[in-house]
Amino acid sequence: KEDPRIARISSSIRIIPDFPKPGIMFQDITTLLLDPKAFKDTIDLFVERYKDKKISVVAGIEARGFIFGPPIALAIGAKFVPMRKPRKLPGKVISEEYSLEYGTDKIEMHVGAVQEGERALVVDDLIATGGTLCAAIRLLERVGVTVVECACVIELEELKGREKLSDKPLFVLVSST
Ligand code: PRP
Repeated sequence: KEDPRIARISSSIRIIPDFPKPGIMFQDITTLLLDPKAFKDTIDLFVERYKDKKISVVAGIEARGFIFGPPIALAIGAKFVPMRKPRKLPGKVISEEYSLEYGTDKIEMHVGAVQEGERALVVDDLIATGGTLCAAIRLLERVGVTVVECACVIELEELKGREKLSDKPLFVLVSST
């Protein structure tokens, strides 16, 4: 049975049609952030799931993984590592490319931010095609980190991003069709 907190979280997410372009139904989590109970419930649900999983690093994906990742990291006693769009991080980086509808993009992580053998949780607001999370997983695995799970607030089920993650577990609070 579904946790009663999920309904409030789900209804606090605003859908904006045709943003950023025609045909896209944008899932806007800024309205969830305006509801302190929904925001706290969101973080609590993740913390309850991950507090005893021996996770040493929470990797948050730019931009909205930077909103949900840090409070989870603090609560479970893990470090937070930002995974950023290209040319944002000032130190030496390793990067991983992924494909978009047209062309490619990249995410980057600081060299030395994580050590071989660490256990990571990857956090973002939403999974669509799964390309971004896949790249994040590859990046962490390249440096010998075990990705325990990926966690998102929202999954766009129709895009089947979950299948792209193959064997990697994905935990989401709200599924949208
Ligand atoms: C969105 C979302 C995820 C990604 C998911 O970010 O926040 O990071 O897309 O898409 P995918 O599963 O198809 O890879 P966006 O591209 O809007 O970038 P932003 O967070 O920097 O605005």
